[in-house]
Amino acid sequence: MLLRASLSLTFATLVAADSTRSRLRSSAFAIPGVNASYDYVVVGGGTAGLVIASRLAEVASVAVIEAGGFYEQDNGNQSVVPALGLSQAFLQVTEDYPRQPLMDWGLISVPQTGAGNRRIHYAQGKTLGGSSAINTMSYHRGTNGTYQRWADHVGDQSYTFPNLLQYFIKSAHLTPPNYQKRNTTNATVVYDPSAFNNAIGGPLQVSWGNWVDPTVTWLAKALRSIGLPTSPVGFNSGSLAGYGAWVTLTIDPKHATRSSSQTSYLEQAIKTTGLMVYPHTQATKVLFSNNGTAKASGVSVSTQGLEYTISANKEVIVSAGVFHSPQLLMVSGIGPRATLEAYGIPVVSDLQGVGSNLWDQYNFNLIYEVNTPSEGQLLADAAIQEQLLEEYLDNAAGPYSTVGGYLAFERIPASLRGNFTQQTKSALAWFPQDWPEAEYIGVGVSDGNGGTLGAIGGVLTAPLSRGNVTISSSSMSDPPVIDMGWLTSPADAEVAVAIFKRCRQAWNTNAAKNITVGQELVPGPNVTSDADILNYIRLNGNQIWHASSTCAMGKQGDANAVVDSEAKVFGVDGLRVVDNSAFPFSMPGHPQASVYMFAEKIADVIKSGL
Ligand SMILES: Cc1cc2nc3c(=O)[nH]c(=O)nc-3n(C[C@H](O)[C@H](O)[C@H](O)COP(=O)(O)OP(=O)(O)OC[C@H]3O[C@@H](n4cnc5c(N)ncnc54)[C@H](O)[C@@H]3O)c2cc1C
Ligand SMILES: *[C@@H]1O[C@H](CO)[C@@H](O)[C@H](O)[C@H]1NC(C)=O
Ligand SMILES: *[C@@H]1O[C@H](CO)[C@@H](O)[C@H](O)[C@H]1NC(C)=O
Ligand SMILES: *[C@@H]1O[C@H](CO)[C@@H](O)[C@H](O)[C@H]1NC(C)=O
Ligand SMILES: *[C@@H]1O[C@H](CO)[C@@H](O)[C@H](O)[C@H]1NC(C)=O
Ligand SMILES: *[C@@H]1O[C@H](CO)[C@@H](O)[C@H](O)[C@H]1NC(C)=O
Ligand SMILES: *[C@@H]1O[C@H](CO)[C@@H](O)[C@H](O)[C@H]1NC(C)=O
Ligand SMILES: *[C@@H]1O[C@H](CO)[C@@H](O)[C@H](O)[C@H]1NC(C)=O
Ligand SMILES: *[C@@H]1O[C@H](CO)[C@@H](O)[C@H](O)[C@H]1NC(C)=O
Ligand SMILES: *[C@@H]1O[C@H](CO)[C@@H](O)[C@H](O)[C@H]1NC(C)=O
Ligand SMILES: *[C@@H]1O[C@H](CO)[C@@H](O)[C@H](O)[C@H]1NC(C)=O
Repeated sequence: MLLRASLSLTFATLVAADSTRSRLRSSAFAIPGVNASYDYVVVGGGTAGLVIASRLAEVASVAVIEAGGFYEQDNGNQSVVPALGLSQAFLQVTEDYPRQPLMDWGLISVPQTGAGNRRIHYAQGKTLGGSSAINTMSYHRGTNGTYQRWADHVGDQSYTFPNLLQYFIKSAHLTPPNYQKRNTTNATVVYDPSAFNNAIGGPLQVSWGNWVDPTVTWLAKALRSIGLPTSPVGFNSGSLAGYGAWVTLTIDPKHATRSSSQTSYLEQAIKTTGLMVYPHTQATKVLFSNNGTAKASGVSVSTQGLEYTISANKEVIVSAGVFHSPQLLMVSGIGPRATLEAYGIPVVSDLQGVGSNLWDQYNFNLIYEVNTPSEGQLLADAAIQEQLLEEYLDNAAGPYSTVGGYLAFERIPASLRGNFTQQTKSALAWFPQDWPEAEYIGVGVSDGNGGTLGAIGGVLTAPLSRGNVTISSSSMSDPPVIDMGWLTSPADAEVAVAIFKRCRQAWNTNAAKNITVGQELVPGPNVTSDADILNYIRLNGNQIWHASSTCAMGKQGDANAVVDSEAKVFGVDGLRVVDNSAFPFSMPGHPQASVYMFAEKIADVIKSGL
């Protein structure tokens, strides 16, 4: 009855008495088109954005501006069911990828000169949850040396792993492995329980898959055979190099559904705070008031063409992701002077670093036909779909309930790095000793014919090529111009060939030979010279969607520095960048754990200054 009554109210009466902050009744959603003001305005309801908005909303009035909507509606179960997440069609990298404009920004890169001049579709979540709503759910942290380097680079020792651990712990709730559902004795999980603390941690759900892919158990064995033993502490305690592990995943094990910043942080904040959400609303410019130093005073926004202003009494926080955060800064007057002037944008802060220093990891695969079942093969078998769906829906188990789940990391072993040029050796010497240069990922996919294709992927986790993001106009309605700069550094090319050889060594172990059928399918046994291997890698590799560092944190005056160690943009007041773009460099491996941590940390910095 109550619901019926409130539904019959007219639109006008839905607008609450406080016209500066009007909210759709009984919701967390603002009235589009009505100017409003808040203490904090967060641009981007993605991974970092929803974390920092939720935490600030505990003590202040906060608005989140998000260009997308709800992926559960816009993309059905494709983004919710773990196994389907891997096969979302729009993740394809070719220019003619299947479009999903309700979920993805549809960015296409400039031709990659180091990678066959291909123009790459680089998916980025356009939805509440951002890229945490489309990622492949691996959750792990960087290394002790990584964060020590971060601390030294920005001159702030609060970034060492021991000091950051509290924020990793604060963001995540860990569920131990369910061995009954995993139903195998050869995929035992090892971890250090002190890396988590559920008494104070959450709301992000972190767990191990409720099913183990038999093909992956063999690929794990192959990787162990080339010298990558199971990590004694797992990948959440500051150590990665030289080990493999069944990795933690951002899956809520109760129903085996994706845990994103939307299902975790936003869902909780809607219930417990006054957080106000502006879905389907794009920020078009950061506004400044000028009183000596420019101060961010709010943002111009557009809800499907309806334009209005959201003011920030205290701060604007940009969390629009690695490509759109630098774009928004540039169209608002913060960036390289020459670029801004070329598009008639008045310069607010001349910062050369905005859009530079793009780090991206590069991935390629070696593939065999194998004789083991796999997630991909089982899901392609029509005859057993009913049973698999039942297992998933009734028991949150079986192949639908998880994704891959096994990763390994290492520095290139001496036998292969001995042949690196002196330049490559010197370039690699920048990285701390515990920062892995290679990651290996084993997966099993359908061969389209009832069987399994096994793939061992090699990833450059210490990339030395740098790309960039720039603009082609002064408007956010034009896409940012993105260049990953893949394999433009000769060092990356040498390391990639070494990684390829390690993948081939893994396929040549007795463990792998036990499951392979026939000879190497991709790239094939005739690809043997370094030149042919490199050619294969350049023409066939792709992103693993870990681009970062285009609004890099650094010391004032450093060439690439855009924000200080409190994420404040240099040269203006009241403006921070809090997302993966603000990392000084890419994390080794998968970054999302660090993105959640970072947003928790900066929320704490802001709250402790109030
Ligand atoms: C396909 C894919 C797979 C991945 N797999 C993994 C993995 O397995 N493990 C892992 O750790 N990491 C993975 N990553 C990387 C990880 O998910 C991202 O690094 C991380 O989510 C980035 O968080 P963010 O807050 O920086 O940006 P995002 O989460 O992308 O958030 C940016 C948000 O800003 C919004 N936005 C942008 N511009 C505007 C504007 N002008 N106005 C309003 N809103 C705007 C966007 O719509 C988006 O919601 C993957 C990423 C992708 C894309
Ligand atoms: C996904 O949704 C479709 C359409 O509603 C349904 O037929 C299918 O069973 C769902 N799959 C899973 C794994 O839930
Ligand atoms: C981790 O890093 C700290 C400095 O940040 C160092 O003192 C400590 O020895 C390192 N621990 C390990 C296990 O490497
Ligand atoms: C796997 O499941 C079957 C059927 O329920 C059971 O008999 C078997 O003991 C389980 N094995 C393990 C290792 O859990
Ligand atoms: C691990 O156990 C599973 C289930 O019993 C089996 O299918 C798979 O072949 C085993 N893998 C290895 C490497 O022994
Ligand atoms: C302008 O700056 C001065 C000095 O910092 C300050 O006292 C004053 O309140 C500011 N005015 C506005 C409108 O912000
Ligand atoms: C909203 O704010 C903008 C900028 O301050 C102003 O130009 C516009 O008139 C305002 N609109 C309304 C309806 O008050
Ligand atoms: C290293 O270079 C030498 C000399 O060119 C060559 O014989 C050897 O095979 C190379 N080793 C590797 C691992 O590529
Ligand atoms: C962007 O990076 C590419 C590749 O490294 C380089 O050629 C280009 O000059 C860079 N552009 C800018 C604006 O820095
Ligand atoms: C190969 O498979 C057989 C049968 O499952 C097993 O006995 C043997 O140990 C396996 N070999 C390796 C190297 O894993
Ligand atoms: C390897 O053989 C395949 C199939 O015949 C051919 O397409 C490819 O060009 C060959 N590659 C090299 C490096 O010889």
